[in-house]
Amino acid sequence: MRNPNTSPSSLSFVSAKPQQQQQKPSQSQRAPSASEPLSEFGREMQAGLARTPRSISPKFFYDAAGSQLFDRICELPEYYPTRTELRILGECAGEIAGQIGPNAEIVEFGAGSLTKVRLLLDALETPKRYLPIDISGEHLEAAAERLKADYPKLVVQPIAADYTMPLVLPAPMVGAGRRVGFFPGSTIGNFEPEEALAFLQLAARMLRGGGLLIGVDLVKDPGRLHAAYNDAQGVTGEFNLNLLRRANAELDADFDLDGFAHAAFYNAPRQRIEMHLVSRRAQSVLLNGERFGFEEGETIHTEYSHKFTVEGLRALAVRAGFRPGAVWTDPERLFSVHWLAA
Ligand code: AVJ
Repeated sequence: MRNPNTSPSSLSFVSAKPQQQQQKPSQSQRAPSASEPLSEFGREMQAGLARTPRSISPKFFYDAAGSQLFDRICELPEYYPTRTELRILGECAGEIAGQIGPNAEIVEFGAGSLTKVRLLLDALETPKRYLPIDISGEHLEAAAERLKADYPKLVVQPIAADYTMPLVLPAPMVGAGRRVGFFPGSTIGNFEPEEALAFLQLAARMLRGGGLLIGVDLVKDPGRLHAAYNDAQGVTGEFNLNLLRRANAELDADFDLDGFAHAAFYNAPRQRIEMHLVSRRAQSVLLNGERFGFEEGETIHTEYSHKFTVEGLRALAVRAGFRPGAVWTDPERLFSVHWLAA
């Protein structure tokens, strides 16, 4: 991003020292004392339980255990997005690399295990620097170390932060080529439609002169979608319920994990999977000394996973200030990868 301070948006990537970024969550395994200020997770959990209908952001899924569960989801036979996207990326990386040119700087939003970017790095001509941004700091550091070992000439600077919040990117390196955003995994589907637009607007501004490579899950047979979020082994359910386990471990909370069930369904008119935790009976939960009553069947909404048509995504990108370029899909048209010039 060339000039972060002239941005008119309140969501802009403002200038600040790295130390002022996202604080590390307090140690897991211990609940905070009453005198300690609440963590972001604690505040949002409390606010999420207080509102109607109840909801909590899916960004809190990804503690160390949640990140590992997500990695297991990606291996499931029903969960087609990851392997389909990897196949597409393998095919399009050469064409993308040609457009990007040498000495590129890759900025990955929500980087996770850093496996997909390898396909891009392998295809690029002398990539200069890689800036993976992820909220799960521990998971990110470990993955960054493994990547460094495999790409000794690449400068790898992991940034443990929430990329939906204002954050600072280091200035481009001397001699750097294009700055390219990488946003795989259809993570954009987690956002509400207005949030998706806001994110793309920010990305377009910070990547000007370069572009964004984004992976987007496509609208398809609802049966196929349902199966992907209701796997036979129950890993997606464990992933969903891990949020409550995390609350018990990190916050002063007493969720009974057997008292809640995983629920995921496709909302066809809204083109999205909705994931909830459903109270299996009437019960109450204590969080930070406050009691929250649940009726049988009452839910906490935990995630949206929006699906797009190719044209829908391109139209959204245009509204955000991108010039949509090539689109790659698999033969079954399950998933899409888009080049959006900024
Ligand atoms: C990482 C947000 C793309 O929505 O498919 C997988 C997360 N949730 N199974 C998705 C997820 C349940 C995933 N994203």
